[in-house]
Amino acid sequence: MAVIAEKCPQIEVTIVDVNPQRIAAWNDENLDNLPIYEPGLKEVVAEARGRNLFFSTDVEGAIRSGDIIFISVNTPTKTYGVGKGMAADLKYIELCARQIAAVATTNKIIVEKSTLPVRTAQAIKTILENGESSGINKPQFQILSNPEFLAEGTAIQDLHHPDRVLIGGDQSPEGLKAIETLTDIYAHWVPRERILQTNIWSSELSKLTANAFLAQRISSINSISALCEKTGADVDEIAKAIGTDSRIGPKFLKASVGFGGSCFQKDILNLVYLCRHFNLPEVADYWEQVIKLNDYQKQRFSKQIIDSLFNTVSGKKITFLGWAFKKDTNDTRESAAIYVAWQLLQDKAEIHVYDPKVSKEQMLKDLDYLAEQNLEFSLIKDQLFSNLIVHNDPYAAMHSAHAIALLTEWDEFKTYDWQAIYNNMLKPAFLFDGRNILDIVKLSKVGFEIKSIGKS
Ligand code: UDX
Repeated sequence: MAVIAEKCPQIEVTIVDVNPQRIAAWNDENLDNLPIYEPGLKEVVAEARGRNLFFSTDVEGAIRSGDIIFISVNTPTKTYGVGKGMAADLKYIELCARQIAAVATTNKIIVEKSTLPVRTAQAIKTILENGESSGINKPQFQILSNPEFLAEGTAIQDLHHPDRVLIGGDQSPEGLKAIETLTDIYAHWVPRERILQTNIWSSELSKLTANAFLAQRISSINSISALCEKTGADVDEIAKAIGTDSRIGPKFLKASVGFGGSCFQKDILNLVYLCRHFNLPEVADYWEQVIKLNDYQKQRFSKQIIDSLFNTVSGKKITFLGWAFKKDTNDTRESAAIYVAWQLLQDKAEIHVYDPKVSKEQMLKDLDYLAEQNLEFSLIKDQLFSNLIVHNDPYAAMHSAHAIALLTEWDEFKTYDWQAIYNNMLKPAFLFDGRNILDIVKLSKVGFEIKSIGKS
């Protein structure tokens, strides 16, 4: 929304949230206190805030005055009841729709921005059409699907130069008009041929499909990484060799400890759930395997650490470099680091973590969430968590460690004085590069026992 405000100064954009602390943080004079860390974001907010970009807690006022309302609430995976662990929890979407129905007095375009299972628009429509503001002056609603394809860490760049913008809507005259209205907004900075217009169901399902295909590429190369380690092949060389085939292309072929982030796992599980719902078990199993392979990759990484450290990590100091799910973000959702830490903590390791952007509170919250799903460990979790030590200084974090595990590809890790780090570690000094960003040959010469993904 900040980018829309930046690119369209004549359009007033108001962002509302029920959480006053969050809105206060967005209004903070010090732009380093914005709630989300994203390169380039503070510059965009600095330009538009107070001009035509506003942050407020007056949800009802904004609904009443808005012509277009973007619903951008979260849709986490359900943790209870039918579809537990797979289906998207649409509770917040429903609450938004009900609030709009209760408050709106004029016609509006409602845009689904959150990633949603296909056919959610129908539910929103039903709620809006049966709202309290019925009667003679009942407002009319058009529902559009406009999924977001930005990736975190490169969000502003992705928004300024999107490969495409997707807008789905009803194919009725009113629906087509609403699609045009939203198209005109993006056309302020996106070439029209990159703005794709579809029916609403195609748009909803395209987002899940795009994420499933991207995640599938990572799971595919990660499956080959396991085979490389057995055969002497090098997964980075393979990625390069196949990526130069223009039909395959070079992107999303970086082997890793596993993908994380708020989208991939959630969206694929959602897709799997939809397929089961529509009685397509073979299709569901096909996509579910992408997730299973990702879980396997995380377990394989933890197991390799334990195996290498002579089958026990109990009482050993293992340092994690990175906790975020990728570089240039403070987001940790579904980060591989959480799962690897959890496995090693269960094996009684002492985990020391350094991440340039993630707080200790967040790390504990992430682990707590996992622990809550495992009754046996939820009972002893406080004891386990006392073995998680968070550092602000990476060198202190690695001092006297038995092993280092690199979990996030932060650029600064490549610039460290690895000789000094090696000198201060216990020997043999192990280094597990879960992102394949370090120079193995150079670091082996320094003295490290180094293991990368997909290299033997
Ligand atoms: C993703 C999609 O890219 C984006 O289009 C969608 O809107 C939201 O989900 P995001 O989760 O922000 O974006 O990050 P992305 O760059 O896609 O990375 C996802 C995960 O895959 C990260 O953990 C990343 O480190 C990992 N990854 C990515 C790999 O392990 N190897 C790769 O080659 C690429």
